[in-house]
Amino acid sequence: MSDAIDHVLAETRFFSPPEEFARQARLCSDEEYRELHRRSIEEPEEFWGGIADELVWYKRWTRVLNWDNPPFARWFEGGKTNITVNCLDRHLTTARKNKAAILWEGEPYQERRTLTYLELHRLVCRFANALKNLGVGKGDRVAIYLPMVPELAIAMLACARIGAIHSVIFAGFSAPSLVDRLNDAKAKAVITADGGFRRGQVIPLKSVVDEALLQSPTVRHVVVLRRTGTDVHWVHGRDHWWRDVMDPASSVCEPEPMDSEDPLFILYTSGSTGKPKGVLHTTGGYMVGTYLTTKYVFDLREEDTYWCTADIGWVTGHSYIVYGPLANGATTLLYEGAPNHPTPDRFWQIVERYRVNIFYTAPTAIRAFMKWGDGWPRRYDLSSLRLLGTVGEPINPEAWLWYHKTIGQERCPIVDTWWQTETGGIMITPLPGLTKTKPGSATIPFFGVDAAVVDEHGHELPPGKGGLLVIRRPWPSMVRTLWGDDDRFVEYYWSRFRQQGWYLTGDGAVRDEKGYFTILGRIDDVINVSGHRLSTMELESALASHPSVVEAAVVGFDHEIKGLGIAAFVTPAGGVLPGIQLAGELSEHVKKTIGAIARPDQVRFTDSLPKTRSGKIMRRLLRDIASGREIKSDTSTLEDYSALAKLYDEE
Ligand code: WTA
Repeated sequence: MSDAIDHVLAETRFFSPPEEFARQARLCSDEEYRELHRRSIEEPEEFWGGIADELVWYKRWTRVLNWDNPPFARWFEGGKTNITVNCLDRHLTTARKNKAAILWEGEPYQERRTLTYLELHRLVCRFANALKNLGVGKGDRVAIYLPMVPELAIAMLACARIGAIHSVIFAGFSAPSLVDRLNDAKAKAVITADGGFRRGQVIPLKSVVDEALLQSPTVRHVVVLRRTGTDVHWVHGRDHWWRDVMDPASSVCEPEPMDSEDPLFILYTSGSTGKPKGVLHTTGGYMVGTYLTTKYVFDLREEDTYWCTADIGWVTGHSYIVYGPLANGATTLLYEGAPNHPTPDRFWQIVERYRVNIFYTAPTAIRAFMKWGDGWPRRYDLSSLRLLGTVGEPINPEAWLWYHKTIGQERCPIVDTWWQTETGGIMITPLPGLTKTKPGSATIPFFGVDAAVVDEHGHELPPGKGGLLVIRRPWPSMVRTLWGDDDRFVEYYWSRFRQQGWYLTGDGAVRDEKGYFTILGRIDDVINVSGHRLSTMELESALASHPSVVEAAVVGFDHEIKGLGIAAFVTPAGGVLPGIQLAGELSEHVKKTIGAIARPDQVRFTDSLPKTRSGKIMRRLLRDIASGREIKSDTSTLEDYSALAKLYDEE
């Protein structure tokens, strides 16, 4: 079967970087980008060596890249460093020592904390010593199952300080999901809290851990942070209050000298891609990659207040709340709760209160804001914002334009950043001072990224032809393996183009004449209707361009005649009455925008689409529903079960 994807939507709107932004940007000319990009590809030793030299190493590397044994890359081979020295210690001798490192806003009103670099350093050292006192050492795996509180970042950094490998598990996961991850990693300790707040409710985290530990024999210690005051069951000897282990711990902790290729963390990817995979990242390359992308993609300046709204349980939070911003000495904001608690203006209140300059969020959140209405952001002073970002899914042009107008007030560039847990850092993205942006397109490859769109034989496709997105060269922050399973790592990402040594992203993409990349969604989600391979992203964007639609998900389902039919699940805009008439109108609209081939066979309406906790639409589940099958997919990562129940009611 061919892997070509029919590219059917033509986007012709372009937005130049605002002059004022470009004038002050770190990078502002196309020539400069091209020259740097060329060097990063043709002279990677010099390019990456130069960047790594901006950071602190105990021992310089002997070789920037060892790619003798693909796909197992070794970056900054022979180098020794500790990422916490670069995120913390190196700032303490500068004007940053009393600068806010973390601004924290709790979900309950009036709960706020500011941690300066000096304070954060002290807490990290103390918690590192506390872990040591529990017998945790270099190479041990520590699971972190905490809400979005500063202690989550402290725990990660404390692990990194002593060379323990952290594995952050999103605090919305259930006990069985926890068991899988704890056992796969053979975790020695778990850091958790009595509970976490979510939309005013208390989620009893400790009791989930208790349940999981009945089946996780490797865990010897549990450290419990008091957060909600919830009653907890206690196992003496195993369980320890955070405060009790911190009290006696010294605030002096020499960082463990880590080999550049020593593991830093494992992060399990989940949800839309099936059984969790333990993505392993190591020290040196990840540090250099997240440092550089944060600096250039967000055009970070000393005085910026930077806010990434992701949960630290996902890679975005690892790279762009914790490691990247702190390595740059930035002020990074952490918000504990939901965007609509207690009201849908919570984010805009926060932007106004802290005068946030850089705001990085997900398309799913943007579509929710659109649905809640412009009235909420309009009430606030958003004039501090100078740069906006998105990540996690393709953003449909309508949502992009709304973000640009209503939040960015046509003043802020938008960086639509494409990357993955496996890539560790941003790979395809506008550079905000120089790239003309195009709604829905992630635009150009970042430094060191050799991306291409190819067919199933590896031939590069001409502009306008959709195909497989591959990365043809190793990059510093790349995944090193899947924890304990080299074979699966090779098979999953590298077997398709083994000969060439290319990384298969699993995404479809198309390039335009300018060389811009537009991501078309996961290859597995492509719908093949009568020989036409249609991208879910384009079908969904076509639906969402209708004024009555805020969000849509499209899947294929078994169709008696066509083999595969197209089912559209649609969330109508506020005040719009769903029904047969609207369904007909939407079918017509898709036919007009794309063509008769793309006309949906089913249109169903729902208040909210089933999504993973990180906001990705669960298409496997929708496929089951559309085909009238019993739900077989794993629903443990589903964000909102009521969404599923509502879809069922309509049958
Ligand atoms: C999708 C999140 C289009 C893509 C950092 C990728 C995107 C998967 C974008 C990785 C984007 C992420 N445009 N699609 N800007 N960013 N994706 O591992 O399908 O949670 O493969 O990492 O999200 O998701 P993950």
